[in-house]
Amino acid sequence: METATHNLENDHIHILRLTDIMLAMVEKGSGEVNHFAEIVNLIRKFADGFHHAKEEDLLFPLLGQKGFSPEQGPVAVMLHEHVQGRNYVKGISEGIEKLRKGGDGALDTIYENISGYANLLQNHIGKENNILFRMADQALSAEEQQNLLTRFAEVENSLDPEFNAESAIIKINQLATIYL
Ligand SMILES: [Fe+2]
Ligand SMILES: [Fe+2]
Repeated sequence: METATHNLENDHIHILRLTDIMLAMVEKGSGEVNHFAEIVNLIRKFADGFHHAKEEDLLFPLLGQKGFSPEQGPVAVMLHEHVQGRNYVKGISEGIEKLRKGGDGALDTIYENISGYANLLQNHIGKENNILFRMADQALSAEEQQNLLTRFAEVENSLDPEFNAESAIIKINQLATIYL
């Protein structure tokens, strides 16, 4: 049976592909400002706005009721890493502005923040898949997993159709054909 944790792990497959694309952009020395902007959109609307929203607004609070503190331990670490990720995205976005104005060092700013984000998220997803979600599977009943899945679907239905899961995956695959 489909579970909420499995649903999140499925998102991870696409987010990991996005981070592979990001690392390839740096390796290939891409200067395509529109591709960088697309990456920022995909992170803000899909990885963060959709996936992290499901974790932060639904899964983690439920785990909180099961004794997982949001201030220390694995959930706290995950929340902190989401914040670090947002800081890297802000850095990418600032680099894009600089690049559009023809500023010196813009690509270095973009590459540094792209690499920082991709490495952080790859590590983060490893910890969720291998540790936190396995603890969640132990802590949550089948019914709680199903209730979460229903709430996840509500989040999905409220999204901008241009960046719902289906359209985000298409955009990720388009970038993958260019960079991977
Ligand atoms: Fe996360
Ligand atoms: Fe996640």
